[in-house]
Amino acid sequence: MYRHLKPEKIYKPHDYVPLPPPNFDIFHYRRGRKYISGVNHLLPVDDSEFDRIQHQHNIYYHVWKNHFSSPIRELLKTEGTKVLDVGCGPAMWTLEMASLYPKSKFTGIDVAPIYPVEIKPLNVEFLQVNIVKHGLPYDDNTFDYVFSRFKGFSYTIKDWKFVISEICRVCKIGGYIEFMEKDVKFDIKNDFTKKELSRFVRNLRRKSIEPIISPKIEQYIRETNNFPVIHHEKRDVPTGEWGDNEYDTYKIGKSNNEIIRWGAENIKNIMIEECDYDEKEWDLTVDEFMRELDEHHIYDNIHRIFAKKETESKEEVCKRKFNFSLLRSLFSCFKKPKKFIKKYN
Ligand SMILES: C[S@@+](CC[C@H](N)C(=O)[O-])C[C@H]1O[C@@H](n2cnc3c(N)ncnc32)[C@H](O)[C@@H]1O
Repeated sequence: MYRHLKPEKIYKPHDYVPLPPPNFDIFHYRRGRKYISGVNHLLPVDDSEFDRIQHQHNIYYHVWKNHFSSPIRELLKTEGTKVLDVGCGPAMWTLEMASLYPKSKFTGIDVAPIYPVEIKPLNVEFLQVNIVKHGLPYDDNTFDYVFSRFKGFSYTIKDWKFVISEICRVCKIGGYIEFMEKDVKFDIKNDFTKKELSRFVRNLRRKSIEPIISPKIEQYIRETNNFPVIHHEKRDVPTGEWGDNEYDTYKIGKSNNEIIRWGAENIKNIMIEECDYDEKEWDLTVDEFMRELDEHHIYDNIHRIFAKKETESKEEVCKRKFNFSLLRSLFSCFKKPKKFIKKYN
């Protein structure tokens, strides 16, 4: 697959120039579901998936009781703070954040125009970008805060490394990056379910999708050398109606159980078409798995990884040094003839 082509154009967020119109010609249908062509994204992009994402957004809001973990509340209340939501999807997070922090400017990018195209708040803009193919079409150090959520089934492990380097690049020095992801990791007891979970994980890895992505995100941020302190927060979320009533865990568990089953339904096509399952087998496996989660009170997990950019990357420093020495030599070229003229006058 194509990778790392240069962006066709570099944009400035909220620059008051019209952004290119969205291209809707990037979808195709398989077995009654709508997909984005030419990407590694395993999930469909249709009403059922949007409803699932919306539901997921609400559940995790109740788990964390906030939209983000980075210490940027004051920054977001400052006029003109620039925020980027990478792979914003239908943009629930972007839109809610934009109304909570009206002085900040929000940019949502996604490979598919599934964000609101026509009606949106004044402090929000959307741009269609395939980050894996072109990277981010912004200069280094552009955004004060870059957020990315639920891409576990969107990128291969190689894509992740590139995407993280891009997110780190466009974040300003002193700004924050933040990722929110789930790991496919459950403390299963039953032998059949254990075997089936390993089979699912094996199938994902065969497609170069890493099911336990949170440690990798930390590793790839660390490898940029610009984020010396990386914070990693985790919440264990019940997967059935057995949570207690404190903090609503009972209700959260019930809803979480629903979205896990719903996610399994939405990824089913790929599992049947590209992995080693047939439909009946997949449905039976999912039933068994859901029963096990509920019976044995097994927790799901959700991670937030965030960090402050303290320095620039070596490439950025090299680029700047190169530009500076280029300017200096150009400048001295202009100076020399003057001296020459002086000497011989
Ligand atoms: C599971 S959705 C999450 C949406 C949103 N971040 C949220 O939390 O509600 C993943 C999103 O990533 C987008 N995506 C997948 N591959 C992408 C790529 N190569 N470039 C940009 N966006 C991509 C998909 O179109 C989809 O909207």
